[in-house]
Amino acid sequence: MATTHAYISAVGHYVPEKVLSNADLEKMVNTSDEWIRSRTGISERHILDNGATSDLAAGALKAALANRGMDASELDIIIVATVTPDMFFPSTACLVQQKTGAKNAFCFDLSAACSGFVYALVVGAQFIDGGRYKKIAVIGSDKMSSIIDYTERNTCILFGDAGAAVILEPTGEEGVGIIDHRLYSDGSGSKFLNMTGGGSLNPPSHETVDKKMHYIFQDGKAVFKVAVIGMADVSYEIMQRNNLTGNDVDWLVPHQANLRIIDACAERMELDKSKVMINIDRFGNTTAATIPLCISEWWQKGKIKKGQNLVLASFGAGYTWGAVLVKWGIEAPKEIKS
Ligand code: COA
Repeated sequence: MATTHAYISAVGHYVPEKVLSNADLEKMVNTSDEWIRSRTGISERHILDNGATSDLAAGALKAALANRGMDASELDIIIVATVTPDMFFPSTACLVQQKTGAKNAFCFDLSAACSGFVYALVVGAQFIDGGRYKKIAVIGSDKMSSIIDYTERNTCILFGDAGAAVILEPTGEEGVGIIDHRLYSDGSGSKFLNMTGGGSLNPPSHETVDKKMHYIFQDGKAVFKVAVIGMADVSYEIMQRNNLTGNDVDWLVPHQANLRIIDACAERMELDKSKVMINIDRFGNTTAATIPLCISEWWQKGKIKKGQNLVLASFGAGYTWGAVLVKWGIEAPKEIKS
């Protein structure tokens, strides 16, 4: 099995200040704090009032660059994973370049919904592996509030806004970095989780607006069933093919869509709950940002140690899903944030 020498050399995140709590949602739709917490694990989420996905992404990238002590002009590539681009074109990544001054980077977006970060991380690692590029920003960023119908209780309770970034560089250290990955797609899942308005199939019109086709649609029950199986199976697969048991995995970094899905995944991996990164309670589902947001928070708190094994696992629209095995390669920060 091929191992790459790309490693995560820095992390950073940006979360808007405004909080939308379950109590706030109780005043907007027919729901309750108890229902939301027991069914999803979410207590609150953050909302960006002014600005767009590129602002979340640029904030996250600036934080990552500061943590690395790197100037934006050193970056070779910026990849932004998102389903809420500022606009169809130009890419959000180009806007992030402009906002951060990364004038030497070439930039593109990647669309894989909630698996966007995991896909983008693998793509970024291949550029390093190929030997031509040395400094790559991989960002997961979504302003989900821009595609949510806040009169629809099935979906509006689930999502929040955030951006989080990692920087990939080559490492000389054997066995450190992005060790292995397994990615899957199944386009037959597209009817269960989508946003059908605004694209070439249904260009924007009064009708698409009236029919609420510019909002996210999810058949929660249908997605739940396959997400539980998909995320648990791929996490188990990545452990098996790297001869790891639950004891060898230090952290599961799961996509934060639903606490019950995360619990099922940890159970399948025979992992103690103390080894699972969970922040869905504070941020909800921030789509492409969930996984790097967890990593960034845990690193800032000094909880990830050099040499530890992380399994990143995701499931999202498409369907898309996958897992990445990472051997952590950087020291804890000098200043620990509680
Ligand atoms: N507050 C109160 N009741 C609600 C509600 C809310 N916010 N949303 C739905 N309900 C009701 C439903 O109308 C339904 O009522 P009914 O039985 O009278 O029809 C009942 O609660 C149960 O709804 P259901 O959809 O079966 O709930 P659930 O336990 O499946 O939870 C999700 C819903 C969305 C939380 C869950 O299905 C889920 O997490 N799905 C997968 C999400 C995911 O992984 N997405 C992929 C990545 S984005």
